[in-house]
Amino acid sequence: MNPDEIKTMLGAGWQKVESYISDSLSSDIDLLQSINGRILSHSGKQLRPLLSMLVSMACSGGKPTDDSFRYAAASELLHNATLLHDDVADNSDQRRGSPTIRSLMGPSVSVLVGDYWLVKAMGLILSASNHGDRVLNIFSRTLSDLAEGEMLQLQKADTGDTSQDDYIRIIYNKTASLFVAACLSAAISVGATAEMEKAVTGFAAALGLAFQIRDDIFDYSLDNGIGKPVGVDVTEQKITLPLLGALQAVPHQTASEIRSMVTEIHGHPENRETIMDFVRKHDGVAYAEKVLKKYIDEAVAALEVLPDTVYRQRLIDLARYTGARSR
Ligand code: IPE
Ligand code: IPE
Ligand code: MG
Ligand code: MG
Repeated sequence: MNPDEIKTMLGAGWQKVESYISDSLSSDIDLLQSINGRILSHSGKQLRPLLSMLVSMACSGGKPTDDSFRYAAASELLHNATLLHDDVADNSDQRRGSPTIRSLMGPSVSVLVGDYWLVKAMGLILSASNHGDRVLNIFSRTLSDLAEGEMLQLQKADTGDTSQDDYIRIIYNKTASLFVAACLSAAISVGATAEMEKAVTGFAAALGLAFQIRDDIFDYSLDNGIGKPVGVDVTEQKITLPLLGALQAVPHQTASEIRSMVTEIHGHPENRETIMDFVRKHDGVAYAEKVLKKYIDEAVAALEVLPDTVYRQRLIDLARYTGARSR
């Protein structure tokens, strides 16, 4: 099943998540209300709340609590907040097939609306009836991971010395950490055992890494059904897994020359094509696909601890979808 089919399966439960999201955002400031409405009408895949709902059901035999819906909604609010900030950090014009809020309204608006969504996410967690403190700690940790991940990415963009360990740390922090918060809070919302919490954390971490690797592979693809620009990571001096895979395949001297091209790309935009060709020639994408598959298998294996239910099966579906998705 793909995400849309899983939403249909969740039925009224999914409506409840959507209501928590939209109700949290209601404001009497017209400008804010209209921007919130625009973001809500271009909603994306909503993968994090879907994972969150399925985890709460897989850990409880299909009995999510009211807190489960709140945490699921909070994960999507927080995700959108990070995208509003990320599009400023990355100077991006397009998101979900439409112009970004940054390009329409400017960076200040994008940052302020991002702050608003972030605080509304925290508000939803605070309003939960049980475990709110523990879950608030988990999401706070994620926010600090996110900021550190984006800062490490900026630092490495300057020095051009990203190793594979650095890359994994960056993508854990900027992407997988929120997957962990979404899934672990869901397990906590239904009183899952410590063993289940551990399994769900392992699942989410591996899936989040795989998810960002797929995103980084998209950046090296030609077609653009993805809804955001491709071929931009190198121009932002980001060394991601396809390029790391290609760098591994060549002698040290050649690798150093390519890394220098990345850090000097602003003075020499023509080097972008050389770097893209280099990745193609040395099968960088195939390398990244291999690592991606390893993480998907790891995510699926982590679920073995959970009872064998239809919800666990849907989590496996979502993990496989993440490995193979085309947007
Ligand atoms: C985009 O996430 C940001 C990354 C972590 C790569 P998604 O691809 O989940 O974005 P939407 O919400 O579906 O647009
Ligand atoms: C992921 O990084 C964004 C966040 C986790 C905030 P990217 O910069 O690669 O994501 P896209 O490509 O803009 O969606
Ligand atoms: Mg970014
Ligand atoms: Mg970006």
